[in-house]
Amino acid sequence: MSLRDAAIGIFDSGIGGLTVAREVARRLPNEHLIYLGDTARLPYGSKSPVTVSRYAATCVDFLRREPLKAIVIACNTASALALADLEHDLEVPLLGVIAPGARAAARTSRGGVIGVIGQEGTVRSGSYPRAIESILPSAKIVSHDCPLLVPLAEEGWLTGEVPRLTLRRYLEPLACAKIDTLVLGCTHYPLFKTLINDVFTKDYGMDVRLVDSAEEVTAELCDLLTRRGRLNGGGPGRRRFFCTDAPERFAVVGRRFFGDEFTEVRQVDLNASRP
Ligand code: DGL
Repeated sequence: MSLRDAAIGIFDSGIGGLTVAREVARRLPNEHLIYLGDTARLPYGSKSPVTVSRYAATCVDFLRREPLKAIVIACNTASALALADLEHDLEVPLLGVIAPGARAAARTSRGGVIGVIGQEGTVRSGSYPRAIESILPSAKIVSHDCPLLVPLAEEGWLTGEVPRLTLRRYLEPLACAKIDTLVLGCTHYPLFKTLINDVFTKDYGMDVRLVDSAEEVTAELCDLLTRRGRLNGGGPGRRRFFCTDAPERFAVVGRRFFGDEFTEVRQVDLNASRP
């Protein structure tokens, strides 16, 4: 098998990374995708760096059972806490969401005041501010964790009073700091784009540009595969979905994150020895 025919592996702590898979499937419809959601061990966002790195390593081991042309870490927390460790000894290109998101934020910001929202582990790691400052040293960065957005997204509460009040509360310190750009540093947050825009415009009278890490990492993946001559020119790609627990829930909730074309989901045990 040539590397052009090899699949792209994508992993996340669970269902949220399907926002990244959706973007990859949209931009690269001919590519075969293997998606793994570690639903048995989510959330990663409240776990320690050591634990997240250990979990992420087992996800990569699972994906590498097949020949791959690239691996995308869809999860912001795993990108922030585990990418450096995972890169060691890996011959497959590995892309996380932090660097592409940071580059887009630095490019997008008009006044250099940038907000970052994410899960606790991502915010605590300081990865986004470090990556943004390495490109735009004068940037002023304000970060905030927004853990309640994850269950709200999975419950499908994307509009209405409850998510609006939650967002208003989370975004207030960022509005006070007068950010002009906001990085959506969690897999689930792109689902709230419309509401976030609405809160900034109507409640705070601000025009804030949103950076979606899913779009940015996909653009980077397209560039990488084009540069290396590894794009698949064949027919529509095959998409396979795996999770570590509750595949029925994954299929139902995942549809909201991925879109309609959802196929079979298989449950896997990451501790089982290779077939
Ligand atoms: N996928 C995680 C992230 O992007 C959100 C859910 C979790 O905490 O596991 O940080």
